[in-house]
Amino acid sequence: MTRTYATLDFNFLERLTQGFGPSGSEEGITEFITDEIRPYCDEIFSDTLGNLIAVKNGTGKKIMIAAHMDEIGIMITHIDEDGFLRFTTIGGVHVTELPHRRVRFKNDRLGTIGVEKLDKPSDLKLEKLYIDIGASARTGAKEWVEVGDTAVFAGEFEQSGKRFISKAMDDRIGCFVAIEALKRTKSTYHLAFVFTVQEEVGLRGAQTAAYALDPDLALAVDVTLTGDTPKAHRMEVKLGRGAAIKVYDRSMVTSPKIKRWMAEVAARENIPYQWEVLEAGGTDSGAIHLTKGGIPAGVISIPARYVHSPAEMVDGEDVAAAVDLLAALLEDGGPELLDNGNI
Ligand code: CO
Ligand code: ZN
Repeated sequence: MTRTYATLDFNFLERLTQGFGPSGSEEGITEFITDEIRPYCDEIFSDTLGNLIAVKNGTGKKIMIAAHMDEIGIMITHIDEDGFLRFTTIGGVHVTELPHRRVRFKNDRLGTIGVEKLDKPSDLKLEKLYIDIGASARTGAKEWVEVGDTAVFAGEFEQSGKRFISKAMDDRIGCFVAIEALKRTKSTYHLAFVFTVQEEVGLRGAQTAAYALDPDLALAVDVTLTGDTPKAHRMEVKLGRGAAIKVYDRSMVTSPKIKRWMAEVAARENIPYQWEVLEAGGTDSGAIHLTKGGIPAGVISIPARYVHSPAEMVDGEDVAAAVDLLAALLEDGGPELLDNGNI
């Protein structure tokens, strides 16, 4: 049974996306998710790197579900005498898109990214950019921020028809899908929902979590790009056409058996799905499937436009399809199929 997106708790998604969580500073998101899901799991804890792990006890096989809490952002490298901040980027941030963006620090101090006078547009480099937090001197600036502090890009959560726009849809939408599936699952498997840290800087949290948990099967949930905007890079994935099942990205080639299993479950449950071949980027399953002797892994992707901008856009029906698919997969006999070679 496919539900419509209207039944999902988009107020909760709004608060998830607006939380502060650049790579390495995910603790606010951890707290927020913990409060929300505690009643739905048997055990919840954070590991050494900061991954949040919510366990739902079951029997037999162990399935790891991964969605990353961190988002892209910036880190202060230098504060000058006039109170302007120089910075480096955290995760995949395109310098050409940075001028005049708003950034928000953990203490809620806001800044505008300014740009030095350029002789020609191609002179735009990271070192030409600075952040203006409204301070008039180094001492004043240092009352609010310090070298090493991080900030995220400001971008409110808005609904436009059945589409939702916000910063940090990558990957709070994945966290949201995992949480919705956790709330409703009747799976009898041993489930470990992992809200990972530091995906945007190299799939780091997923790596240690997978090693420690050593699951029989892992499913990651993240955003993917689309090919459905004017003169977009050619790609099959379209907004509103359902959950995407990853076939390939730079971090992983999905086992044909796993992608077939995912598609069969989607078809059986009448959940709209599309194949994802992503020519750039990767996600947590990339690290997970290479752990120990190898861990079978798949990815459910939520199609998103304008990924790594403060206005990432997803379609409500795709989100609902992703929740339905994850919930259905967790209840299906996938892990057993792995044993007898049918998957
Ligand atoms: Co990303
Ligand atoms: Zn992501």
